[in-house]
Amino acid sequence: MTSGPGDPQIVPISPVFGAEIHGVDLASGIDDETFRLVHQAWLEHGVVAFRDQSPLTADAQVEFALRIGPLHTHPAAPAEHANAAVFVIRTHRDSSISNGNGWHSDVSCDEEPPSATMLQIQLLPHCGGGDTLFADMEAAYATLPATTRERLCGLSAIHASAHVYPGRYADRSDGKEALATPSAVHPVVRTHPETGRRSLFVNPSFTVAIDGMDSAEGGELLTELHEHCTRPEFQIRHRWQPYDVLLWDNRRVQHFAIWDYWPNERSGHRVTVQGTRPFFDPEGPEPDESPLRLSIGRLA
Ligand code: SIN
Repeated sequence: MTSGPGDPQIVPISPVFGAEIHGVDLASGIDDETFRLVHQAWLEHGVVAFRDQSPLTADAQVEFALRIGPLHTHPAAPAEHANAAVFVIRTHRDSSISNGNGWHSDVSCDEEPPSATMLQIQLLPHCGGGDTLFADMEAAYATLPATTRERLCGLSAIHASAHVYPGRYADRSDGKEALATPSAVHPVVRTHPETGRRSLFVNPSFTVAIDGMDSAEGGELLTELHEHCTRPEFQIRHRWQPYDVLLWDNRRVQHFAIWDYWPNERSGHRVTVQGTRPFFDPEGPEPDESPLRLSIGRLA
């Protein structure tokens, strides 16, 4: 039976961002009003976790993602699934890397990086582990001093992938996959195209330099920003239950898939939605003063 209006229960999981959604069965399909509520919750909370799910077929996952927008094609990952829109997430005993195992916003090196990512983990490591961390870049922006925010609003950064993608998927392909290593210049502070809110848009995986700044000064600034962005106050941690589905907004959050379960296996299906070119609107509103109290990282 299709989930109908009134079904979703949306439960925030931290005072900052992230919510769980109960009462929606994605495998059975959802009606337009339920989709509208889910979409609104995703925009409001940045990450939503659908609990109590069953395995989604590739078609069902793709159909849901297409309701958000046209799909994004990964520039480098080989198509392993019969449905080419599905990116197979799989880490096992012989993996040399684990996908997503470092802070990043998906494919931020693209001119038009993905907006949404939808992931269902179908095989959890049998001894536990394999959680996914998220960090809220709106909170990261809002907690910076006003003078720093003003400075950052005038800067752009280079996002590259030539240091990330070559060889990354070698164990998954026959070596004949087309490999693209895109790079792009994006504003350091971006305006969300749907909510109008500002967030920091740099990450340690793809952001390699501040545009027009010498590498020492730019590198120092990026190091400071990466440290700030990954403060515990801006983080949530998703502990996967069988067949959970996560939907996150790459325009607002970074994520980090923890690989603490070797030699066990973890696998699932990821589908991403095409985003638009990141921009900064200088006329847009500044966030209200953040209520967050930032720790100095030790007891004082
Ligand atoms: C990814 O970065 O898309 C993978 C996230 C995960 O496996 O938890």
